[in-house]
Amino acid sequence: MNCQISARLFEVLQREGVPTHYLGLAAENWMAVQRVEVIPVEVVLRNVATGSLCKQTPIPAGTELSPALLDLYYKDDSLGDPLLTDARLELLGLINADQRQEIETLARRVNEVLKSFFADLDLLLVDFKLEMGMNQAGQLLVADEISPDTCRLWDQLNTDPEARILDKDRFRKDLGGVVEAYGEILKRVQGACPKPCN
Ligand code: TMP
Repeated sequence: MNCQISARLFEVLQREGVPTHYLGLAAENWMAVQRVEVIPVEVVLRNVATGSLCKQTPIPAGTELSPALLDLYYKDDSLGDPLLTDARLELLGLINADQRQEIETLARRVNEVLKSFFADLDLLLVDFKLEMGMNQAGQLLVADEISPDTCRLWDQLNTDPEARILDKDRFRKDLGGVVEAYGEILKRVQGACPKPCN
């Protein structure tokens, strides 16, 4: 389901001129993509405060964040994907200031497109994580996947704080109904984008 959802979201982004690694679906669970050198930085955009932001700061859960908060994390599971500051980024030499700016501009554009796309499906894009990479021509592309595993999505037709969760938080919080929630996201995304390209 993540592959089917992700393919359609990449198509929506590409339609809006956002460069991504997506080429098409090769099979139901097989996405063809451009080869990229992945930048070891996870880019998180937050439209509503929840998750780690509320564990690490006194910002109350549910606070609307406008403009969206952009957090960068060092992509290394063995280090627990630590939060990066600009100074740490510079020290690590992972990306330069221009690339940092380019990543932020691209991530904010993705947020704009997806927030509006999901809103039309009665879904609130609470936050999400992106990975990016450079293709052989040196172009920055959105890579990896975009799915309920990497986004928080709340059903705007449901006000119950648990029932509205249609993403991996159902698993993280042990709420059950994971498959049903992902199925609901797929159904709505499919309605807006029925046939992904092969
Ligand atoms: P967080 O609140 O745990 O920092 O998560 C923010 C968003 O990033 C949330 O939509 C889930 C997503 N995410 C991932 O996709 N992978 C990860 O490893 C982490 C930590 C978060």
